[in-house]
Amino acid sequence: MGIKLGILGLGTVGTGTVQLLQDSEGRHPLLKEIEIYRVGMRSLSKPRLVELPPEVVTTDLEAIVNDPEIDIIVEIMGGLEPARSLILTAIKNGKHVVTANKAAISRFGAEIFTAANQAGVYVMIEASVGGGIPVIQPLKQSLSVNRIHAVTGIVNGTTNYILTRMQTEGSDFDDVLADAQRLGYAEADPTADVDGLDAADKIAILASLGFDGRINLQDVYCEGIRQVSKTDISYATKLGFVIKLLAIAKGQTSDNSQLSVRVHPTLVPQTHPLASINGVYNAILVEGEPIGQVMFFGPGAGAGATASAVCSDILNLLATLKINTPKSNPLLACRHQNYLQI
Ligand code: NDP
Ligand code: HSE
Repeated sequence: MGIKLGILGLGTVGTGTVQLLQDSEGRHPLLKEIEIYRVGMRSLSKPRLVELPPEVVTTDLEAIVNDPEIDIIVEIMGGLEPARSLILTAIKNGKHVVTANKAAISRFGAEIFTAANQAGVYVMIEASVGGGIPVIQPLKQSLSVNRIHAVTGIVNGTTNYILTRMQTEGSDFDDVLADAQRLGYAEADPTADVDGLDAADKIAILASLGFDGRINLQDVYCEGIRQVSKTDISYATKLGFVIKLLAIAKGQTSDNSQLSVRVHPTLVPQTHPLASINGVYNAILVEGEPIGQVMFFGPGAGAGATASAVCSDILNLLATLKINTPKSNPLLACRHQNYLQI
């Protein structure tokens, strides 16, 4: 069984995803069964880093989500609209969806997942939080039995990159932001990164998963890093702290009936596990019972890292659709004979 993809967006993440799908040698065998059938973008005249046949590329995204040949829509265009409407149309048409769009999921997640349940299709969102870090599936599945007490994370690569360079090199905010944009870490509108909104979207998603309910984005306290000066950073260092933009979701009562969900620059003791997470790296510390503390760590933004999460969602979907029994699920089987070695 092969699978046909309709990809919405050929920017940073779209390019990384197409590159990864086109370079299947030595990766998971199911990759060879995936066909890049249509790819949608705004402009056909922009120079691109990947080569695609002319019949594959289009500016008509509606046509992609309405194409009966397509099995999975990969929404990596970003923004609220038309992303939301395109996702909902795809679902209504019986297509599975993979998305990296935390802004759409944090705001319209209830509508999207309800529609998906009604249509009997999957919506996969691993790339929406933490770039390449596997954190959505572990939180949803591997840790699901735990009573979660807190989820605390550095979940925005751009601001962590900026704060790290301000701290280690004394760089200026504006110069470092320009570098983060050039490297493909920042959102199309970097205000979302700098003012903490992107981190707020992500902690709303993580809190909804960890605390088993929808967290309204409006209820998330949000403060970005614009006010953090080089002087603040220098005093923090002298006092034994680093300044990190933390996203925190914490139970306030033993039954988690009250939660505090917030994003703000935080003085983190230099000995804390999150203090050493630098550059574009993200980390998410989950505290629960009986597990204790678990920390997820890795590259939080960028083409390759995010494409890793997007393509893993596609592969997971393909494996789920192909064979429904976990025992024979090829993704659960080991790929290499020498699996005892690292
Ligand atoms: P980019 O801005 O680099 O790319 C967006 C792509 O979507 C472009 O190809 C653009 O077309 C296309 N597009 C956008 N709006 C439209 C529209 N209205 N009609 C047609 N095409 C459209 O974004 P990213 O790749 O950085 O991000 C994509 C998504 O992934 C976002 O939701 C982002 O939050 C998320 N994400 C990004 C990460 C990153 O590191 N960059 C990491 C994790 C998630 P054109 O090229 O013609 O302009
Ligand atoms: N702009 C986001 C960040 C991309 O810097 O973390 C990854 O979601």
